[in-house]
Amino acid sequence: MEPTPASVSISSPEEKKPEGQEIPIHRIVSGIQPSGKLHLGNYMGALKNWIDLQNRYECYFFIADWHALSTNYENTSLLKDNIRNMLLDWLALGLDPGKCTIFLQSDVLEHAELNLLLGMITPVSWLLRNPSYKDQQEQIHARDLATFGFLGYPVLMAADILLYRADHVPVGLDQLPHLELTREIARRLLHLYGPCVPEPLPLLTPTPKLLGLDGRKMSKSYDNCIYISDSAEVVWEKIRTMMTDPQRVRRTDPGDPQKCPVFNLHGSFTDDAARKEIDKGCRTAGIGCIDCKKILYANIETLLSSARRNRQKLEGDTALLGSILEEGAENARQEAKKTLSIVRKAMKLPEKHLFG
Ligand code: TRP
Ligand code: SF4
Repeated sequence: MEPTPASVSISSPEEKKPEGQEIPIHRIVSGIQPSGKLHLGNYMGALKNWIDLQNRYECYFFIADWHALSTNYENTSLLKDNIRNMLLDWLALGLDPGKCTIFLQSDVLEHAELNLLLGMITPVSWLLRNPSYKDQQEQIHARDLATFGFLGYPVLMAADILLYRADHVPVGLDQLPHLELTREIARRLLHLYGPCVPEPLPLLTPTPKLLGLDGRKMSKSYDNCIYISDSAEVVWEKIRTMMTDPQRVRRTDPGDPQKCPVFNLHGSFTDDAARKEIDKGCRTAGIGCIDCKKILYANIETLLSSARRNRQKLEGDTALLGSILEEGAENARQEAKKTLSIVRKAMKLPEKHLFG
């Protein structure tokens, strides 16, 4: 199940001329579970990339609310809020419904139909050997994950992707096993029923691993995040009290930036020249940690202050948010219906006018 290097395209795909307009080339689809507010790690790992891709390709980006149910089916009370916050964060950061299709997975019921059809042809053994199925079952004890839905998570994900006949899927490394399963399912469709959907490739972006306030990976579950929606005061307070190189106790002690999570964040938010200065300053005790943190704060605020302004404008406009999702779903549904028609035909399933 390990993806072969050949199946991984690190850079953007070559620009090709679309031949027939029927099945456009360079169509991208990706989703995120609505697990709450986005943090800087999510931004660097996904959104920043999406915001760039929307200018170059036909993109479908969706909030994977059904996927969130696979692990959180018991407590659904926050789901609607989480969806709203996710949408607000996406828009505030610059994802633009004028440039890409933004929608909610559960608004497009075709995901469920394709999920069902793909479920019919996916061997259970493929799902049982999926590494994240095993990992999560071992790690999460508070919830019973021995469900049909959790086992079938990758089938639903395959449906999400194949439904749009996407050729590329921007994902993080952690999603590669899932994507490999999508590819296997696509090949199985081909083998059983002939050509109907392309086999999508992962679009891996070289994203640095962002460390959190405590020096561990930035993650909601560690409670060590800077959130896109944090106020300027909260952001400064978080950075001010952030862990630094533990060896650097006094201002006069030289430090090692490589051992400092503050410097790790400079890696994503500070330009090369300034970063070199800081590196030197830290190693020679020429710069103090507070000054170093002030620079980081200012650079992060460049991103967050504009997101904050955008968010404020959008927050009260429930009608606008609703219509963005509605239009997105309408768009998505059109493509989804085409795909289902192709798949049903290939599978020789009854269509309308069965006896006509
Ligand atoms: N599994 C993805 C995650 O947890 C979310 C997801 C669902 C997704 N369907 C997808 C990502 C389709 C890419 C394509 O982040
Ligand atoms: Fe970290 Fe900056 Fe302090 Fe060096 S000067 S230890 S990089 S916070």
